[in-house]
This record gives sequence, C-alpha cells and structure tokens, in this order.
Amino acid sequence: MGKDVIIACDFDSKEKTLAFLDLFTGRKPYVKIGMELFYAAGPDIVRGIKARGHQIFLDLKLHDIPNTVKKAMAVLSSLDVDMCNLHAAGTVPMMRAALEGLTRPDGTRPLLIAVTQLTSTDQQTMERDLLINEPIENVVAHYARNAKEAGLDGVVCSPREAARVHELCGADFLTVTPGVRFADGDVGDQKRVMTPAEAKKIGSDYIVVGRPITAAPDPVEAYERCVRDFVSE
Ligand code: C5P
Repeated sequence: MGKDVIIACDFDSKEKTLAFLDLFTGRKPYVKIGMELFYAAGPDIVRGIKARGHQIFLDLKLHDIPNTVKKAMAVLSSLDVDMCNLHAAGTVPMMRAALEGLTRPDGTRPLLIAVTQLTSTDQQTMERDLLINEPIENVVAHYARNAKEAGLDGVVCSPREAARVHELCGADFLTVTPGVRFADGDVGDQKRVMTPAEAKKIGSDYIVVGRPITAAPDPVEAYERCVRDFVSE
C-alpha cells in the first residue's frame, strides 16, 4: 500500500477525461476524480474509469451530519472506488459513521482519509472566519489525531506536514499530499509546494499531481518523471 502518484483529473467532461487517459497506453495511473468532474459527469465516469482498470481516489470531501454522511458513503463505496475523503471538521462521530457506511457487506471498504485544514486556509483566515485561535500546525495535528481515533486510514495534507503527521499518528497512517511541482515548473496558485523527490524524502505516501501532468506538453512523460522521482528507488 502507498507510494504512488495520483493524477488529479480536473476536467469538466467525460470526453476530455477519457481522451486524456487514452494517452497512457499500457499504463493505468491512479486517478483522482474531484467535484468538478463528478458533478459534470456523474457516477458513470467513476464506473467507466474503474472498468478501464484504474484505481480511483474520489475526492468529494464530505461534511454533514453523521447519518447523512454514512448513507452517502455507502453509495460511494458501491461505486467500487479505492479511496475517498471527508472533512475532519465534521467531528469524530461523523468520521466513525462514514467508516460504517463505507464498509461493504463482505467487510471490505475503500481507504478513508480526512482533510485537516484546506491548504487555501491560512492562519489569518482561520482566526477571522472560523474563530480558531490556535496555531494552524496544532489544528492540523489535532484533526489528524481525531481522524486516527475515529479509525480512518490517513489525511490529506501539505507535503510539509507529512513528517509531523507520521510522527504523531504512526508511520502507517497515510499522508496524501497535493501541492507538488517540478523544480523547473510553474507553481500556479499553489503556495507551499514540493518536488516529487522532496515529497518522497519527507515520507508522503501518495502525491496528488494535477496541472504539472495534465497541462504538460507530454503528459505521459511528465507522469513517468513523477513516478521516477517519487516511487522508484
Ligand atoms: O493542479 P494541481 O497539481 O495544483 O492539483 C492539485 C489537486 O489537489 C487539485 O485537484 C486540488 O483540488 C487538490 N487539492 C489541493 N489541496 C488540498 C486538497 C486538494 O490542491 N488541500
């Protein structure tokens, strides 16, 4: 388990997504489907990509009352995804309910990971909008421990937080990290970035890479470069 490159397929249609995946002849990269694609193309896109043999991280970041999340997770689990997520801010009872909903009758279930604080939230906005006055590192650590207590498999976090999360929650508690850029690449709107090689060194289990692959002149080459730098010895 772990040490893989997940491609964020942030496209707005089924056609664009499948045309992109067609480029990868003979390879089946791990694919992340987020809100944009899921809301545009519906559950069928999940079934279609799964039928092509890809593993899927369904990134819908659920946050609601425990009963609603439990039932929604049961539906997502029936789509046979490999990983899904929710907001740790939904509390420990919500995370426990999510796990229950996710568990299939045969006892199997997708991996479940929690978003701690979004990387778009900084100390200032957290204090002003959420009235949370702790240092953000403490909030991330606290939410990660809550996720662990609820029985989840890991968290989505910045690569910079991965080592601390492992220290607090154990080496086998997964860290799934977006915000990855090549050293010679465009940073775009991501603020705190790391290269695939740095993310590997710091102990990320999965890196989530979008535009450095999807917008590259040769997406397959860019993906292979990520795999070489992050997965290969
Ligand atoms: O294109 P880029 O590599 O920035 O894509 C990163 C992906 O990871 C996007 O799908 C984005 O929504 C997602 N993500 C993120 N930061 C988080 C959680 C998810 O960038 N904290």
